[in-house]
Amino acid sequence: MASYPCARLIAIITLIVILISCGKPDPLPQHAAPQQPGWPALKPVIGPNAAIEQRIKALLENMPLEQKIGQMMQPSIAHVSPEEVKRYYIGSVLNGGGMFPNGNRYATPQEWQALADAYYQASMAVPDGVPAIPVIWATDAVHGHNNVVGATLFPHNSALGAANNPELVRLIGAATAQQMVATGLDWNFAPTVAVAKNARWGRTYESFSENPGIVAALSAAYVAGLQGYPNDKSFLNTDKVIATAKHFIGDGATTRGDDQGDADLNEQQLIAEHALGYFSTLSMAVQTVMISYSSVQGLPMHGNKHLITDILKNQLHFDGIVVSDWNALGHVPGCTRDNCAAAINAGIDVLMVPYKPDWPNMIANTIAQVKSGEISMQRIDDAVSRILRVKLRSGVFNKPKPSQRSEFTYDTYLSTPEHKALARRAVRESLVLLKNNDGVLPIAPNKNILIAGDAANNVSRQTGGWTISWQGDDTTPKDFPVATTVFQGFESAVQAAGGTVHYSATGEYEVIPDVAVVVFGERPAAEMSGDIENLNTLEFNHEDPEPLKVLQKLKAAGIPTVAVFIAGRPRLINKELNQSSAFVMAWFLGSEGGGIADLLLANQNSGKSFDFQGKLPFVWPATPCHVLGSQPQFNLGYGLSYAQPVNLSTVPEDYPPRTYGCDLPEKFVPSSAKPIDLSGSDFQLHLELKSLESKIISDSETWHGLRGAVQRKPAGAISQIDLEWQDAPRNNAVLQDGKVRSLLANLAAGHALQFEIKVNQKPSAKVWAKMECGHLCAADTLEITQKISTLPISHWQQVYMPLACIAKNRSDLFKINSGLRIDSSGYFSMSLRHLKVAALNDDDAINLCE
Ligand code: BGC
Ligand code: BGC
Repeated sequence: MASYPCARLIAIITLIVILISCGKPDPLPQHAAPQQPGWPALKPVIGPNAAIEQRIKALLENMPLEQKIGQMMQPSIAHVSPEEVKRYYIGSVLNGGGMFPNGNRYATPQEWQALADAYYQASMAVPDGVPAIPVIWATDAVHGHNNVVGATLFPHNSALGAANNPELVRLIGAATAQQMVATGLDWNFAPTVAVAKNARWGRTYESFSENPGIVAALSAAYVAGLQGYPNDKSFLNTDKVIATAKHFIGDGATTRGDDQGDADLNEQQLIAEHALGYFSTLSMAVQTVMISYSSVQGLPMHGNKHLITDILKNQLHFDGIVVSDWNALGHVPGCTRDNCAAAINAGIDVLMVPYKPDWPNMIANTIAQVKSGEISMQRIDDAVSRILRVKLRSGVFNKPKPSQRSEFTYDTYLSTPEHKALARRAVRESLVLLKNNDGVLPIAPNKNILIAGDAANNVSRQTGGWTISWQGDDTTPKDFPVATTVFQGFESAVQAAGGTVHYSATGEYEVIPDVAVVVFGERPAAEMSGDIENLNTLEFNHEDPEPLKVLQKLKAAGIPTVAVFIAGRPRLINKELNQSSAFVMAWFLGSEGGGIADLLLANQNSGKSFDFQGKLPFVWPATPCHVLGSQPQFNLGYGLSYAQPVNLSTVPEDYPPRTYGCDLPEKFVPSSAKPIDLSGSDFQLHLELKSLESKIISDSETWHGLRGAVQRKPAGAISQIDLEWQDAPRNNAVLQDGKVRSLLANLAAGHALQFEIKVNQKPSAKVWAKMECGHLCAADTLEITQKISTLPISHWQQVYMPLACIAKNRSDLFKINSGLRIDSSGYFSMSLRHLKVAALNDDDAINLCE
């Protein structure tokens, strides 16, 4: 039985890959929509089902407009109650990264289920005459059910790309679906089918490969695992969930690898390099596609009717749901995040509007736009038909409440022995051996082994972003009750074999070890904060110089060293490579750290170990600012094995320096950086109440909980701003002129953001400050409460924030779009003047960053 679907999977993928890589025109039958140049006319893999289409028609006839629009909304669980699901006929909910039932990170599977049941029951309790439509719950289970404490976590996609084994990926998808079903969830925002072309992109680890063929094959396998096979009885069966191919399209191709940036590619380039994962997952009947935050040639994807409707829906015959990304609608010209007819008209069916009151506003605005004719009823019916089609196919109409949907409803299902074994196998298959001089690996387990490095005994460091929280950077051992660290894996194997093993992060030892394993790498990060920007480069040593020191120290003591690099993507590591006898790329490997010892230790009895199978799915940089087409250190597909030992000679360390990061010329002269006056006449004060409503005020005005007054000089420039916060949950004031500036040169020149502040009344609660670089940057701000509270009352004081400090918090200084933003959640009154970015020249100025 098992071999049949697998053979079919391979056949489908092979067909797609051959089809696409040949670039031949579509051999499949033509459809009504006009053929778009270069795009294949994919045949719908699930043919029309008359019973389902009939049911959709009947439902649509009985649905009031409010219910149709409600079905299109997707609020987050922190911002919608079961009662509201009922009242607004909400179609789906999501938990973003770091959102849990009752806000409790340690919510049990039963608590997840209980909330799923509550939403479901609310959605079924409709007034007479209105059809009951079950609500569905979406999550980002992108490496296992990673938002739930206790789930087995699999390696991230870049690791799976190294393993490049579709069947392994299918099994991981299937295990993830079981984990989700065990908590009552229906819809997974995975797989990411991005083809990451620039390792500076912080989401590179969510991409299987920069090779579109690998992405196509593994994405299809992932979808088969999550959803089952189309036209097979496994399809959306009780232990399956709805999958999503994301982020359509070009997310991995942005300039500089900017998250949410612009892909400057024409359609032929998109087809050749970035569409294959869509072709392959559509052929596996992926039921939903998420639109990308990014733009294509300057046009935000969320408003791109041509690519969404003409191509994805009409040309590629996608008949499922197109969902928008988190809060992304504000990216569309003319839209705000609670009002966006343009996105619906472009073809988006489900609007991920996570916050309140954005989503109730969106409902009201959309209803008004349908009534005014700005959005046609036909478009709404198309969107709702798609939502109903996916729900009908998923069987949710016939299923009992979520907690009773399958046999997988007990705690242990999050982490069965099978799941753990699968995750550990995935680690073994994904490790890539970059160097193994003089056969230092495999290590005989009966030796005296030192395990060093700050990532060796730390689950958080091995699991990466999208782990319990969104960024995955705030986890503690309590978050990982079932995980094994790399050190623990060595400990049990070595002890069983009669060897000795010690752990010291800094590489200290009492008895000289026979060999040392040094485990280090990137910190966990997710969207945006993982981007390599500003003064940073791909050179790992620049970011963290400590591991090299540990390696040098051990080498100097004559101890053979094995470097294990835990990171989401290739980094320039030539210095570390030269100091190690062996070097293993381990990716973000998930909860099963034991997989490392499995491969690095020789089997006690046979003397043989598992062998390395992983091959690089991304080229490995030889320079700090590697770009597409540069000479790599290691090519795509590189990876040594025990079977084929090769000694690697010393690699160059004399690559050209990049003192100012990758975006300023190396010959840049810091003194030439120009100061910027940010009090100019174009600035407006923009007030945002509870981060939910916003308003631009041009003059003295009182507004809800936040009062602002702007005084202008006769010439028009702002001379002073008076602001008063009135006990509100986080109100903010932003000084903006609608321009986006790069402050990179100012950063390199050591400039600071400076202003004079007069505290009129001390803050009663926290105060934050930042410069903004897009709506999502508001997540990271610098807390200045302490500093502000010590300033004398009613006295002008010069203060500053070095750009380097701002960049540390939000490293997007090349796209700053505000002068200053101040948030407060309590009572606070202050005045502000003379805002500028310049070199410091006032010794008495106070640093708000310290
Ligand atoms: C959410 C994530 C989301 C992110 C984007 C976070 O607060 O939890 O799911 O992707 O915000 O801003
Ligand atoms: C991410 C998506 C994710 C969504 C929901 C967004 O910020 O870009 O990949 O599915 O949040 O958490």
